[in-house]
Amino acid sequence: MPFHFAILGLGNIARKFAEDIALIPEATLVAVGSRSLERAQAFAADFGAEHAAGSYEATFDGPRVDAVYIASPHITHKELTLLCLERGIPVICEKPMGLNLAEVEAMVTIAREQKVYLMEALWTRFLPSTLKLKEMIDAGIIGDIQSIRSDFGFRANDLHLALQHPPLGAGAERRAGAIAPASAPKRNRILDPNLGGGALLDIGIYPQFLSQFLLGEPEEIHATARLSPRGVDLDTQVTCRHAGGKLSHNYSTVLGRTKTEALIIGSEASLHWHPRWHEPSSFSLLRGKNDPPENFYFDYEGANGYRYEAEAVMADVQAGRTENEHWSLDDSLALHRTLTAVREQIGVRYPRESLRDS
Ligand SMILES: NC(=O)c1ccc[n+]([C@@H]2O[C@H](COP(=O)([O-])OP(=O)(O)OC[C@H]3O[C@@H](n4cnc5c(N)ncnc54)[C@H](OP(=O)(O)O)[C@@H]3O)[C@@H](O)[C@H]2O)c1
Repeated sequence: MPFHFAILGLGNIARKFAEDIALIPEATLVAVGSRSLERAQAFAADFGAEHAAGSYEATFDGPRVDAVYIASPHITHKELTLLCLERGIPVICEKPMGLNLAEVEAMVTIAREQKVYLMEALWTRFLPSTLKLKEMIDAGIIGDIQSIRSDFGFRANDLHLALQHPPLGAGAERRAGAIAPASAPKRNRILDPNLGGGALLDIGIYPQFLSQFLLGEPEEIHATARLSPRGVDLDTQVTCRHAGGKLSHNYSTVLGRTKTEALIIGSEASLHWHPRWHEPSSFSLLRGKNDPPENFYFDYEGANGYRYEAEAVMADVQAGRTENEHWSLDDSLALHRTLTAVREQIGVRYPRESLRDS
């Protein structure tokens, strides 16, 4: 039986995800939901979806939906996830799963109470390069991991506007989580506090994921950041001390391009994950000082890299599982405990947001 996907929020990432599920023979995009019927109809036409809805709620008025991919801005993830969970519909929700730990806890609690599938779309966890890396670590090729250094950075569009004084529109901040009408002016999501902007939640989540995936949840967190006049983080350094005193150095920025690479330093060898390490890429194993690097290449034949997380969801839902064993809800909780702790240290708080209780 074909697996029926629906998508809520039809922006940039929704399009890439739709392109990738089109590569999975057993998957079909059956429904798309937007704040604008016109946008939903155009998207549905592009990807052959049977049902186009002009509201998120109406997305479920059409054919059977086996799982929903939530592709809207962070501030709406909790509300839209609950909309699906209440209907008993499995969810794969874009990262960050919630705006803060309190939101993620509420989402996880409801998913577990209702016994409905939920997974954060931490796609990097499912890539063949990540699976190979894990296999090599488990085989002892790298030895004992001592520390990790990774980064993710690019220069955001409209950065000059975000750096302007006095703060733009400070009197017009919306309640965090409110879904704006489709007619609202288009803003740069990454620089907008109303949309949960900032480097940490958008891209810093990847270095933090890598360090926790390989070294576990940190025991100590030291974070420092540069904030925009409107209070989103532009440049964030997080240094973590993990079990056994191992360190991770996790850097994200929207002020300029970085190499976006990762170095995993082990007692037997080190692994250099080439730019951009979080997506389909290549890596080199660095053994002795005089040994040439051993290179590993991963070719995805035109895919964006999202099909692997989609296939994981399909396999889980078809098997009746309510969580993924490789990126579980406990993994998301641990990641968001750190991200929220970092935000407390660097002083990023979104309009009318409460970090600890939603
Ligand atoms: N996994 C990845 O590689 C990756 C890459 C980029 C982004 N993301 C994540 O995906 C999410 C969306 O990012 P994106 O870059 O696709 O954003 P985007 O291009 O701005 O699209 C987001 C869509 O969400 C809907 N939406 C609902 N409420 C909205 C609001 N208040 N303001 C603006 N749009 C709203 C809109 O679709 P409708 O008008 O159709 O409802 C909009 O087109 C973010 O949480 C981000 O972290 C993940």
